[in-house]
Amino acid sequence: MSLKYKKVIITGATGGIGNSLVKRFAEEGAIILATGTKEEKLNDLKKNFSSIQIAKFNLEEHSTIESFIESAVQKLGGLDILVNNAGINLDSLTIRMSEENWKKVLDINLTSTFLMCKSAIKKMIKNKSGKIINITSIVGHTGNFGQTNYSASKAGTVAFSKSLALEYAKKNININCVSPGFIKTEMTDKIPEEYKKMLINKIPAGDLGTGDDVSNCVVFLASDKANYINGETIHVNGGMYMA
Ligand SMILES: NC(=O)c1ccc[n+]([C@@H]2O[C@H](COP(=O)([O-])OP(=O)(O)OC[C@H]3O[C@@H](n4cnc5c(N)ncnc54)[C@H](O)[C@@H]3O)[C@@H](O)[C@H]2O)c1
Repeated sequence: MSLKYKKVIITGATGGIGNSLVKRFAEEGAIILATGTKEEKLNDLKKNFSSIQIAKFNLEEHSTIESFIESAVQKLGGLDILVNNAGINLDSLTIRMSEENWKKVLDINLTSTFLMCKSAIKKMIKNKSGKIINITSIVGHTGNFGQTNYSASKAGTVAFSKSLALEYAKKNININCVSPGFIKTEMTDKIPEEYKKMLINKIPAGDLGTGDDVSNCVVFLASDKANYINGETIHVNGGMYMA
């Protein structure tokens, strides 16, 4: 995919999809800075992929995002690709949802994506090129019971990415989304077995997806092969939702 020596920041690298992203970008020869909130998991990642750099970073600390990007660019020696993959869900029915849990999900999933993109794009404009891939979700398109905060954050990410793509297309910067369906990770491990069975029945492919299903698509969008794709969302969901 021609990602050799491309400098990439991957957020949420310690999660299920993040692990696969690190693996696929490493296979393609990219220079990787992997971030997450859990130090132990970051160290495990480094054991498996010795060439990567790691940085513990909490995306909730919005005021530190600009300086984080600055230090990441120093560490990597530049910035070609940003993958905003970190995300959380705090599910409950809306009438029971606290404002705190609404805000926390929006802060991490949407506002931090805005701030990461804002800082990264300043660097990419100077480079005269860049690729940003934001990880959204099927439920940002379909809605989901108990996930008004999460689905709003993911739908917001899609609309944000389209507007951003319009603003910076002429600067040779591509901003796209990958929208996974239900993927086998810690996030979906939390789904009760009964509900998981019901979900699987609704997936034409007959099973949850894997991290690699998602990361293969991200790697493609990060490559020169996707230069004419901008403001798009690619769905990776086993046919569960066809846009
Ligand atoms: N697993 C799925 O079925 C699925 C489906 C659709 C979309 N997604 C999206 O894919 C992305 C990755 O999901 P996953 O399943 O690998 O999740 P996961 O729970 O396995 O990993 C989440 C990652 O986000 C990081 N993170 C959480 N809070 C953070 C914070 N405050 N600051 C920085 N990093 C933080 C964690 O450290 C971890 O690395 C998320 O954006 C998620 O919403 C997942």
